[in-house]
Amino acid sequence: MIGRLKAGGVPSDGCVMFHGIVLAGALWLGAASTLAATSSDATSRLETLAQLVKDPHPRVRLEALRALAKIPGARSAELALSVLDQPMDPTLDYALWLTINELSEPWIAALESGAWKSEGREKQLAFALKSIRPEQASRVLGRVIGGRLPKDGSGPWIELIGQAGGPKELGALLQQTVTGGFDDAATTRALAALGEAARTRKARPEGDTQGILKLLGSPNDSVRAATLRLSGDWKTPPPADSLIRLASDSSESVRSAVFEVLRLQGTGSLPLLKQLASDKDPATRRRAALTWAALDLNGAGPALVAAIQGLDQEQTAQEFWRGLLPIKGSGKSLAPQLPASGIPQAAARTGMRVAREGGRNDMDLVLALAKGSGLSADTQAFTGQLIREMAAKAAATGNPQRGELVYRRSDLACTTCHAIGGAGGRVGPDMTSIGASAQPDYLVESLLMPNAKIKEGYHGVVVETKDGQTVSGTVVRESGNELVLRGTANQEIVIAKSDIESRNQASASLMPAGLLDPLNETEQLDLVAFLSQLGKPGEFDASKGGVARKWRLSNIVHTDQQNGQADWMWKKPLQDKRWTEVLSRVNGDLTRTLMENATKANMWSSKIAVLAVTEVQLAQPGTVRFQLTATKGTELWVDGSKADGPVSLGAGTHRVIVRIDPNHIPDKIRLETSDAAFVLN
Ligand code: HEC
Repeated sequence: MIGRLKAGGVPSDGCVMFHGIVLAGALWLGAASTLAATSSDATSRLETLAQLVKDPHPRVRLEALRALAKIPGARSAELALSVLDQPMDPTLDYALWLTINELSEPWIAALESGAWKSEGREKQLAFALKSIRPEQASRVLGRVIGGRLPKDGSGPWIELIGQAGGPKELGALLQQTVTGGFDDAATTRALAALGEAARTRKARPEGDTQGILKLLGSPNDSVRAATLRLSGDWKTPPPADSLIRLASDSSESVRSAVFEVLRLQGTGSLPLLKQLASDKDPATRRRAALTWAALDLNGAGPALVAAIQGLDQEQTAQEFWRGLLPIKGSGKSLAPQLPASGIPQAAARTGMRVAREGGRNDMDLVLALAKGSGLSADTQAFTGQLIREMAAKAAATGNPQRGELVYRRSDLACTTCHAIGGAGGRVGPDMTSIGASAQPDYLVESLLMPNAKIKEGYHGVVVETKDGQTVSGTVVRESGNELVLRGTANQEIVIAKSDIESRNQASASLMPAGLLDPLNETEQLDLVAFLSQLGKPGEFDASKGGVARKWRLSNIVHTDQQNGQADWMWKKPLQDKRWTEVLSRVNGDLTRTLMENATKANMWSSKIAVLAVTEVQLAQPGTVRFQLTATKGTELWVDGSKADGPVSLGAGTHRVIVRIDPNHIPDKIRLETSDAAFVLN
């Protein structure tokens, strides 16, 4: 991440950085060795470190942090925490964590005396609270919060209590929640914070916890769903009749929370699940069968087969298989029970893909699905001869422009796992220069037989959890009590170490075999031709940067104004489902087709504008000149204001929006700058 941050005004001169590191290192040595140092020495060292901790180069900031740890005092802690105003990376994170640990007592003293104020420094406070020991954190929280929290939950306190509070603080939060002391949004946050404390730290509130059940009757969807989840995290499920009622709730998130709770409850919920497996609603039946399978795989067989026979949509089928196949042994157990005919093709096709995804290679299931649906399971070994022929044909007749569209197809999921020019998934290697660096034979082999050669650094791990789930992915990070994997849907999966039963290297590639099966020959050749162009000079060279590649699109509609929501586009998190993520073409263009597809969703209210949002990051304050290529009438907005020329921006991340007239969508838009780095992930 740091490598991309070539923001304006940063000296690129290596000597400057080297000087900074040596200086910080010398200050560290000085600090460590001179016990007899006078206080004026310490003061002047601190002055120098105050500069170095803001240095544009992460290595210098790192050395400065470690030097600060050796000068105990409130000012050192303050300077160390200020490093959070600059971009962070895992090494800096760890160095700051260590430093604050060492400076915890002086920092707490400064906070208690009022010398260190948390207003406007919520991020720093949160980081510090998570770094110090739990009993220290609970002492601090008790002091700074004092009495009740505001009704709208404003400020960072609810989440901080969840992350660092002890039984007493959690108890007070629970009390305020169940007595109606928060509005709906803050209630939802408080329930989630209590759940996080239980899940990640096994910390529970003092006092009676049954009181939350009455929130199941709340008219607010999010409150009902959060209450259910919390009862699951606490392993104190609501009574059966409430669960049955909520299983057909009007809100999707409530319905799915019901099944999470039932699974966490264990085999005690089987009678209820059997009842729900013959519900009148197919989605409920499917969910009940999946949860049943997680608890009792053999017993669930007939219910699973029935659910599979009803899968005729790609999307629901994919969700079903992604829910089922992580259950250990599920493919093997299901295969012999599948009927010899009558399995819908959508069910079989997606099942065959997921069965070979993420290091799984459930050939029994693949063959049974192929047979039952009349599809062919192309599992022949591809010979060297065949691979060379296909590579040669792709070079002669493949069309890379069409191949790019194949690559983007959502059913193939290439972009979920791979990035080009940094935009896209990170499960597999970046494809930016694959065409320039790899031979066509190698590309064909990678696509047809992902397991033949697994690229260094991309071996997956397979973790079995104590509750019988098998999770696979690459390791993102790991601490004493947590393992974070990147799963095959490019999502981060957090696993508590105490829940791990076993952990092994995956024997197969995380990239699914059989990915090309649904493509005809022309499409396969076009795809190979596209990959072989990547990184070569021309329209498939994404190595230069400086252009927005990751966009999110949405519409402004009339009801936004009526609902007093005129500024939601600056406030809603970019993960919100109101935004649809779209990557630009390899050449950096966001084309009209891409924009139209992403915004055509049926809306009751008419469109006022189409919005395309992206983000830029700066390591230091600076002036940013954007070049927008688009038609007239398209406007560029930055951080809530219209930008007609260069804009001055502070260090950090900024939201940039292109506002487009829905009746005149340009053929393409393209946004460039060399003064800031576009955020890609
Ligand atoms: C579920 C995630 C996933 C999906 C989907 C996926 N890949 Fe992969 N891919 C990987 C992983 C992980 C590797 C590296 C391990 C290996 O070499 O098998 C990889 C390796 C590759 C390689 C070899 C790269 C190298 O540097 O050795 C190519 C080429 C490739 N993928 C192309 C594609 C294309 C094209 C698609 C879509 C048709 C696709 N992948 C879909 C995860 C995925």
